[in-house]
Amino acid sequence: MSGGTRKLGRRLVLAAAAAALSALVASGVVASGQASGTSVESRVDSLVSKMTLDEKLEQLQLEADWQVNDDEARRGVGGVFSLTDPEKIDHLQHVAVEQSRLHIPILFAFDTIHGFRTVFPIPLGEASSFDPNVAHADAHYGARETAVTGIKQIYSPMVDVSHEPRWGRISEGAGEDPYLGSAMAAARVHGAQGNDYGAPHRVVTSPKHFAAYGQPEGGREYNTTDMSTQRLWNMYLPPFKAAVDAGAGTVMCSFNAINGVPGCGNHETETEILKQRWGFDGFVESDYTAVAELRTCPAKNPDSGPCGHGVAADGPDAARVALNAGTDQEMVSTNYVDFGKQLLAEHKITIARIDDAVRRILRVKFRAGLFDHPYVDWRRAEAQQLKPDAVAAAREAARRSMVLLKNDNKTLPLDPTKSVAVIGPLANDQHDMLGPWWGVGRDQDAVSVFDGIKAQDPNTTFAQGCTIVDRDPPDPPNDECGSDAGFDQAVATARAADQVVLALGETRGESGEAESRSNIDLPGKQQELIDRIKALGKPFVVVLFNGRPLTLEKVDAASPAILEAWFPGVQAGNAVADLLFGKANPGGKLPVTFPRSVGQVPIYYNHEPTGRPCDPTFKWNSRYRDIPTCEPLYPFGYGLSYTTFSITNLQLSSHTMRPRGAVRASVDVTNTGSRAGDEVVQLYIHDPVASIEQPVRRLRGFERVTLAPGETKTVSFRLDRSDVGFYDNSGSFVVEPGQIDVYAGDSSKASLTDSFTVTP
Ligand code: NOJ
Repeated sequence: MSGGTRKLGRRLVLAAAAAALSALVASGVVASGQASGTSVESRVDSLVSKMTLDEKLEQLQLEADWQVNDDEARRGVGGVFSLTDPEKIDHLQHVAVEQSRLHIPILFAFDTIHGFRTVFPIPLGEASSFDPNVAHADAHYGARETAVTGIKQIYSPMVDVSHEPRWGRISEGAGEDPYLGSAMAAARVHGAQGNDYGAPHRVVTSPKHFAAYGQPEGGREYNTTDMSTQRLWNMYLPPFKAAVDAGAGTVMCSFNAINGVPGCGNHETETEILKQRWGFDGFVESDYTAVAELRTCPAKNPDSGPCGHGVAADGPDAARVALNAGTDQEMVSTNYVDFGKQLLAEHKITIARIDDAVRRILRVKFRAGLFDHPYVDWRRAEAQQLKPDAVAAAREAARRSMVLLKNDNKTLPLDPTKSVAVIGPLANDQHDMLGPWWGVGRDQDAVSVFDGIKAQDPNTTFAQGCTIVDRDPPDPPNDECGSDAGFDQAVATARAADQVVLALGETRGESGEAESRSNIDLPGKQQELIDRIKALGKPFVVVLFNGRPLTLEKVDAASPAILEAWFPGVQAGNAVADLLFGKANPGGKLPVTFPRSVGQVPIYYNHEPTGRPCDPTFKWNSRYRDIPTCEPLYPFGYGLSYTTFSITNLQLSSHTMRPRGAVRASVDVTNTGSRAGDEVVQLYIHDPVASIEQPVRRLRGFERVTLAPGETKTVSFRLDRSDVGFYDNSGSFVVEPGQIDVYAGDSSKASLTDSFTVTP
């Protein structure tokens, strides 16, 4: 099509759109925004009353980019995801609004997990900042870049608590702790939605994957989850509750089965907990083909496609199970639209339930402002991407997300006036810096470690040593730094420099969805590369890029300094250089435990006690005979700084917590070193006598503070009954009278302690 014809076509469409819209506003189908004074509920009512059954079922359909076309839009498809071309989005929206009978706009969605075009650190990295403002900023800019593209829903935040480093998707969440996870979840919802996700730069969020998807057996993706009610409530549901309380407008149900009931066919979690108990009035979309997957295999009616859970006989049955459980919208598979009528005629589903699902979807569309402003100015979209404020926020987020794991003999910071060799398979790599779920980020947007360091120290050289690539299975083992052919050159490059940076880890494709690993060592021969560099006797640091805790005992033993950088996003190299040269001081802490060996997994700080607590010196207790310690390599909450801190003077405002009362716990934190730096003060509690055994520690407060050398701040935390209570095995929240121990410090090993009593 020539430019001229295209312009003409566009003008005609726009004129038709204007005419169509004013007619619709006049008829009341499309309200004219706030000025109409009509409430969302009555607009929903009015629209539902005009809909045919077919039109209702269409709203329950969520199509992928490869499924949708003009006919689908004309027919009134409810949602479309993964389409990111703003011109195509706008075109389909025009078709839906102008050519479907009831002119209902499509809700476009995308996995903006840690940025859209401006890719921020992976969420596990951002959780390491122990700073909800970091997650908030990521969500804010991600929402802005997403919304200008015409996409109003994001499949984020991913709030699955996980104790499974083997599970690749641990990278997408906030780690192992429900309290930290709740703070990050709420920050992401607020950051993306603000107070009104209908605003032009806002999007509606969709916390996922509901529920307990982070705990698949064996750490194997999509696998079964089986757990007690109290575990579910105390450990896995809190971040979802926090996200819903923060206003999350939609939720995605999970692929996995919880206690034998798949997440998208689970009446208890979707309807009883989420909708009834928590009062959630938005909609639940299924995960990808999760409705079809409810079927037994081999798949029947349709006789192909995904299947496996065996809680439904065939497609109609799967639609019945999912819809009745509370799944409002079906992603990719089409059982609702295909069999909805039949199920209704057979009285296997009710029109009330269909209407409820439709109403939930329309409610979100009205709140998203889609009926008032369905279109985007797609020509503006590109100019709104990667703007300097977003890029600056991504650099700051990356700096705050990295964790200094080791720094013997003050190896760091490096001296920018001396030469540096940057070595390793990830040293001159842009692609992997973006991590899994890179949005629409482009490799060329990312700053490699080599480029970042060279920008601050021109006397910098590079040698790759080995290559690490990920391919889809079967991935030849040699792809992952399998050859040492380049090691001699790497060693020669390192020998010629004063100091060495080793950039090692995983590829972005080795973590994320469907990337479980049974061995979580550094892949390939990377350890040998470390050993060769160590033999040179020069100062060196290992900078790690990875999406999960790795087993780093050998790395730790061989390396004087280790910086955990995660996958830092577009500003990776600049942020690494800022920290390595001491322009910024590392202040991140681990949001997840690093095991010594994969056999220790699951290992997490907030575990229940046992009657035979671990003691490596004695036989009859809970230990591994081949691991001479009970400790992980690095505990939850751990991280170093270039300065030192002391945390002292734990004070409780009272030694009694009365009904409706609170106790304030305060400590003094002092920078005892000679550089400005950040400390994360952490507060843990333990209930030593309870009707259900309580975790040995539970995080209930944290604050990241910046202190000049010699400076002291007092940090205080408020504890009330919501902190000291817990959910029992019927899912009821109980507060039991008795002693509560408090611990304060700089990690989950915090040693300052006091206690108070909760009165009846
Ligand atoms: C499957 C993933 O599990 C989910 O997190 C994602 O949002 C959907 N695919 C859509 O991309």
